[in-house]
Amino acid sequence: MIVAVDGPAASGKGTLARRIARELGYAHLDTGKLYRAVGLAVLRGGGDPSDPAAAEAAAQALDPDSLDDPELAGDDAAQAASKVSAIPAVRAALLEMQRTFAGRAPGAVLDGRDIGTVVCPDADIKLYVTASDEIRAQRRHKELLQRGKASIYARVLQDLRERDARDSARSVAPMKPAEDAVVLDTDRLDAEAAFTAAMELIRGVAARAGGPAGQ
Ligand code: C5P
Repeated sequence: MIVAVDGPAASGKGTLARRIARELGYAHLDTGKLYRAVGLAVLRGGGDPSDPAAAEAAAQALDPDSLDDPELAGDDAAQAASKVSAIPAVRAALLEMQRTFAGRAPGAVLDGRDIGTVVCPDADIKLYVTASDEIRAQRRHKELLQRGKASIYARVLQDLRERDARDSARSVAPMKPAEDAVVLDTDRLDAEAAFTAAMELIRGVAARAGGPAGQ
């Protein structure tokens, strides 16, 4: 069973994906961390994340088992990720490890931007979690303040819009819902309601397939 959870920054997709994985005892991969780690590696090497050669080399050298660096959560890593992720060779270098992860038993939940469209087009369940940019920026701003970080709402909103624009406009694997994705709008659904809706869908699909998640 593969559950694909896509959506823009701060939509709540990561929280939802983690919760689904915990509930079902599945493995979870936050694919944004792969791109963040590549972006951060380029920055730390003094390079430009938009430079295809530097970004491809960092993607090929990536160790998928070393994704717990706290700096990966920061805005520099996010903006660098959004730049390296537009480079086709970077996406190609990270594709196989994502597909291998998706094959884990008894199931896997992957969250990102192109899981339902490119990484796992045959996923059993495809969710696209979204919300207005103002709501998402408010959430990110609040989260930064709670973590004791300096944050200016207008700046957070601008960064998020820039990142969304870059992620949706790129020619390779742009951020968009798969045609067969179920859209969960978290402007209207709180985290609990989104989780309940997602689990109903998953259990419905699993029951039709006779799998254990349906019980
Ligand atoms: O999800 P997160 O905010 O951590 O993602 C950081 C960046 O990585 C995104 O803005 C996007 O550019 C890129 N990304 C991607 N494809 C994915 C996951 C993330 O292009 N599957």
